[in-house]
Parts: sequence; structure tokens; C-alpha cells
Amino acid sequence: MKKSYLKIDPWKIIETDFDPKKVKSSESIFSLGNGAMGQRANFEESYTGATFQGSYIGGVYYPDKTKVGWWKNGYPEYFAKVLNAPSWIGIHIRINGQPLDLNNCLEVIHFRRELDMKTGIYTRSFQVQLDPKTKVGVEVKRFLSMEEGALGVINYQLTALEGTADLYIDSFIDGHITNQDSNWDDPFWEHQKKCCTEKYILLHSQTLKTKFDVGTYANSQLFDGKGQKLGSFETLENDYRISQVKTHYLKEGEHCTILKFGGYINGMNHKSANFEGKAHELITKATEKGFDQLAEEHRLAWENIWNQSDIVIQGDDEAQQGIRFNIFQLNQTYNGRDARLNIGPKGFTGEKYGGSTYWDTEAYCLPFYMATKDQAVARNLLKYRYDQLGKAIQNAEKLGFSNGAALYPMVTMNGEECHNEWEITFEEIHRNGAIAFAIYNYERFTGDTQYIPEMGIEVLIAISRFWAQRVNFSTLKKAYVMLGVTGPNEYENNVNNNWYTNYLAQWCLRFTASQIQKLQNELPDLWEGLTDKLNWKEDELELWNEIADQMYFPKHPTQELFLQQDGFLDKTLTSVAELNTEERPINQYWSWDRILRSPYIKQADVLQGFYLFGDHFTKEELERHFDFYEPFTVHESSLSPCIHAILAARLGRKDQAYAFYLQTSRLDLDDYNSEVEEGLHITSMAGTWMSVVEGLGGVRVINDELHIDPILPNSWKEYRFKINFRGTLIEVLVTDSQTDVRYKNADLKVYCKGKLV
Ligand code: BGC
Repeated sequence: MKKSYLKIDPWKIIETDFDPKKVKSSESIFSLGNGAMGQRANFEESYTGATFQGSYIGGVYYPDKTKVGWWKNGYPEYFAKVLNAPSWIGIHIRINGQPLDLNNCLEVIHFRRELDMKTGIYTRSFQVQLDPKTKVGVEVKRFLSMEEGALGVINYQLTALEGTADLYIDSFIDGHITNQDSNWDDPFWEHQKKCCTEKYILLHSQTLKTKFDVGTYANSQLFDGKGQKLGSFETLENDYRISQVKTHYLKEGEHCTILKFGGYINGMNHKSANFEGKAHELITKATEKGFDQLAEEHRLAWENIWNQSDIVIQGDDEAQQGIRFNIFQLNQTYNGRDARLNIGPKGFTGEKYGGSTYWDTEAYCLPFYMATKDQAVARNLLKYRYDQLGKAIQNAEKLGFSNGAALYPMVTMNGEECHNEWEITFEEIHRNGAIAFAIYNYERFTGDTQYIPEMGIEVLIAISRFWAQRVNFSTLKKAYVMLGVTGPNEYENNVNNNWYTNYLAQWCLRFTASQIQKLQNELPDLWEGLTDKLNWKEDELELWNEIADQMYFPKHPTQELFLQQDGFLDKTLTSVAELNTEERPINQYWSWDRILRSPYIKQADVLQGFYLFGDHFTKEELERHFDFYEPFTVHESSLSPCIHAILAARLGRKDQAYAFYLQTSRLDLDDYNSEVEEGLHITSMAGTWMSVVEGLGGVRVINDELHIDPILPNSWKEYRFKINFRGTLIEVLVTDSQTDVRYKNADLKVYCKGKLV
């Protein structure tokens, strides 16, 4: 198993050596975010070595013109790029005329980074020998406030350890930024205005095409070793780089501190005409509070988060660090306060994948946010899709569907599809099913029965209309079939009758029909209003029932097995165990043609269905399907091991469940796929949480009641987790002798290992 260069600690991520080859990986690992903005852990001082500079703002994107070899009708015009924003963190320092640069000095004597997940504060310290006579030490503390989404704080302390240091400090905002991920190397930003006052510097920029206004602001103060504030900085402007500069002299042994506040004022929340007033207000407030108070408020915000979501594992610090890292990063990415935002696969830690919303949100992230936050957070995730329903309907119309049928995009920022591979864009339609399932899952978990009548029903109807038009009746099979689809296993394209997709469609049609009937009985006036709005005809229901009743499912001719798709058994069924390990991952070594013809499964497909619809199948059925499909599964999506961990746990296979859990929990910390420098796998982190709570913890809602059926991995002494089920916080402690379940709500029934708690 791959081992990390990072130290093991239950609450901290620690790096103790400076290795230029690891800088980009650490920039991902130590990334910071607060739901509104995020940044890779780039150095404040100049660095001429290999680095991936990244600062991102929630909801702000650029529609990068689509680039494909061969255009297909229906392709989107653009791919929404998560946009690298002007950087406000830079503090370049010249010492006795020489730039402070870890890539360009005599020696880095000491280097340490620490991300304290308990307090949300990132620290970095180093000592460098600049020349034979000059040695300096630096200690940096940085955080993006969880209290004030537009505020970031840097405390940069520099000590003259040997010799004197004549400092030239250049603390700046830099508008010269490019995206690593860009189709045509277009400029993405147009800088419009610079504003320099005593109080702050501000760069007003607008994204090209999408016209998002952003004000990047900052202010720096300098303090001497006794904490006395030294006179103000002078402002310099050079094109779209605005600097606050100051000189200072340190005798040997003396130190000084630069306190820098900065961040983004997002035009989605503030009129651009008010940016200056807002920058003034942010800086004034932050200056009044000072570093310590701001850090304390930030720590308290994290304390609240941990109080509701921490998972404590005794006896296995590696596992402990892994799960906390995942919970920490998910909270840095999304806080649920703004229904226009969502959770991108790389969050604020990189640019790959673009977009912000995949089916990952509904299938993986929703359970995490439902159970660890107040209901409003998960509701906002659903509302995001409701608000984009019109665009999903237009998307389906573009492909030839009608009558309000909706196809939600595979990848989106604003509701418009931006993915452009036909086998995914047009065919990986199971995403629609995940969105419908999330509505059901949300109601069953939170008990919020208002969402479906208020919004969910419209989404359900539009998706059901899509399924009803997407199937066709096969006279040969005497059943409804769904042709030309791609299931979650993207190593099969354009298949007929992907079992998972057909099953989701059948379930969705029936569930929507049941919800319509419920509304007709319980809220007839509301339904009456909807029938006009949706141009509803009662015979739609008849058709849906007919399709659901006569849906075709591919089956093994002799064994009691559902087949992943028509023709799966025609493949040469060699298992993953027979693969040459040197050719793994196959997506890096094999041609696409070879992958498509192979039996290898990228991620849970049939088994994804067994996960979602666990209570539709017996344990024996699950076991049979697990034992058939898992041996062909290469788990080359980070979303795969978590589902297998949960299913293995449901089968009581402790070791296998734990092995899958380990694979998902430390995916980024141990950099299993040697790609962490591109960014973190944020959405699969929610899967890791699921593999502990739903997998090892065995948490499931069955017939509207909460069931807990835990197993304890051998290497753990005990573990505890909390879930917010229907507004009641339930605390579960699992030890080798017992399971302790605590909550305060006399009306709530919770079952542990089948017995009422
Ligand atoms: C997976 C998809 C997923 C996407 C983004 C792909 O590799 O196959 O299921 O939605 O990554 O995480």
C-alpha cells in the first residue's frame, strides 16, 4: 500500500520536509476553503519552482468554447471552467536585495506545514540560509474565515536569525492569472478598475462572456517585534498588479509581522457599485477585531461543525486522520448557505473536471450533508436542481424530447449542459434517476414532507416524462427497453438496457405516480394548480404504469442474476485478478477500444442499484450480485470503493469492508493514483463518510425508521459518530462489546441490530 510523506496525527496534516517535487501535491492537500471561496496552499513569498497557483470563487465560471474533434448536434457550446481568480495572498519579500524564494537560496534548513483541522488554521514555518551570513525564519498562519465568507487572513512573521535583514515587502493583488485548464487559452477576465486607498487596495474584474463582477481586495499592516504597528504601506500599481510596499530593517534576532486581510467581494452577492464600500467595511471590521479574535471566531465555527459531524476512531490514527480530512474538506467546499452553489468534484482545490455539479452531488454528497447539517443545507442542494429545472427541460428539448421532459446535465454550473462526449452527454442519463432518488432520500431521512409538494414533484414529473419518452416498446421482447445508454460504468458505452438505468427509471415512474396520487388526495388544490402549470394529462399516469410494469431487465439465462446490460455475457469474462498489475489503471495503459470490449467495470453499476435500493433485495441476492460483479471491477473511479465498502459491510464481510474503506479514506493523503497535485477528490470524500456511517456503522432507513447495524474493524478499538436524523442528533458508539445509541426524543424509534433502542 502506498504511504504518504505526511505525518500521521488524529487532528492534523503535517509535512516536515521541503521537497520541491511535492510542492504541487501539498498545495492540493493543504488547500483552504470556506464555502464561498478557496485556494490552493501556494506560498505567499515568491517561488520559482514548480507550482500550481489556484484561487477560486464559488459560482464564478467562464464558458470556455467547446473543443471537440467532430461536432455532434446537441453538443453544448461551452464547458464551464472553474475559474482561477486574481490572487490576493502574495507577499514577496526582498532581503538585503535578494528575493526570498525557497527554490533559490543556499539551503532550506527547516520546513514544516500543518493543517489543524480542529481549528481550520493552516501554518507554515521555515528557516532558510540566504547567503553565508544571513539566515531568516518565517512563520505563517492563514485561514479563510468560516464566519465571513469574503475574508481571508494571513499572519506572516519574519525573523532575522543570523545577520541583519533589510526588508523590502511587496504585498500585492495579482490580476495576471491563467487557468491550467483552458481549451483555447482565451483570457477569462477583464480587469476594469483599480482602487487604492489608505485602507485597502481593490481590483475590480469581470469575467468575459459570463460577466461576473468580482472585487479582489486586500490590506496589509506591519508590526514590529513588540506588536507595535509601523507606519502605513505605499501603494504601487503596475498594470493589473497592485502592491502595498514598505521597507523595514531587522537587526539580528528581531522579528516583524505582516498581517494581511483579503479575499473576494462577489458580484453575485453585492452590486459592483458597492465594492469599494464593502472592501472598506470588511477591512475596518477585520482590523478592529485583529488576528486573534478572527481566528477565535473561525475556531468556534469549526467547533460547531465538528460537534455535529466528527467521527472519532480509537486505535487507528491513520484511519482517524483520513476520515477527518474528508469531513474537513467537504465543509471547506460547501456550507449550504447559498442554493446557487454546489460541490464540484475538485471543490476549490484544482481545475480538472470544470463545472461544479455532477450526479456525485445527489448520489454521494447529499447523504453526508443530510446527516451532518441542519435540514436546510440538504434542501438547498435539492433546490439547486429545482431552480435549474427550466434549463433541464430546454436541454431535453434540444435532444428532441417534448412535453416538459427534463434531462439534467451531466456537468453544469448554471443548469446548462457543458459536457461534450456524446456517450456521456447524451447517454449517461442515469444522472436523472439520481436526482429523483435524492428527492425521495431527502424526505425519508429528514422527514421534511413539504419539499415534494413545494418543489420536488415538478422535478419528479419532468424526469418521469423523460423516461417515458426515452424508452421504446420492443415487439420482440414484448417489453419496454432503453437503448443506447451509458451506465455509471463508463467503461461500457452505448449499451442497450443498462440494468441500473432501467431499474432507476422504473422506480422513478412508480414513485412519481405515488406522489401524484398523494397530492391528489391530500392537497387537491395544490395539485389542481400544478396540472395547469405542467399541462398535465391524466393518461400520462397510465402510460407510466404500463412502462414500469413492462420494463425489460437483462438477466442471466441460467443463474439468478441481473446483467449489467444486454450482451454482457458475450464478453471474455476474465477477472481483475488475472490482469497484469503493471497495466493498472487500465485507463492509462489500454486503448479505449480494448477497455470497451473488456469485461472490466470502472465503478459500481449494477451494485450502485443494490446500494440505492438495498431494501428491494435479499441478502442472498446482494451476495450473488456482489460476488459476480466485484471481481470484474477495477475501481478506477474514486466513487467506487465506498459503495463496495457499504455493500461488503451489509454482507457482514468486515475485512473486505474495511479494505474498501481504507482505499477511499486516504485516497488523497496517500495519493493512491499519483495525481493529487491536480486537486483533491472532494465528492468521493462524501463516499468515505458514507462508508463509515452507512457501511461500518450500518445506518439505514428502512420503512421510515432508522436502523443501525454496526461492525467494528479489527484494528479499531472503538468508533463514534453522530447523525442528525429528522432533527434529532443521534450519537452512536461502537465498541467490541456493545453499541451505545443515544438521543433525546421520546417519539423517535431507532433500531440497533434489529432491536428497538
Ligand atoms: C466518474 C463519474 C463522476 C465523475 C466526477 C468520473 O470518473 O466515472 O461517475 O461523476 O468522475 O466525479
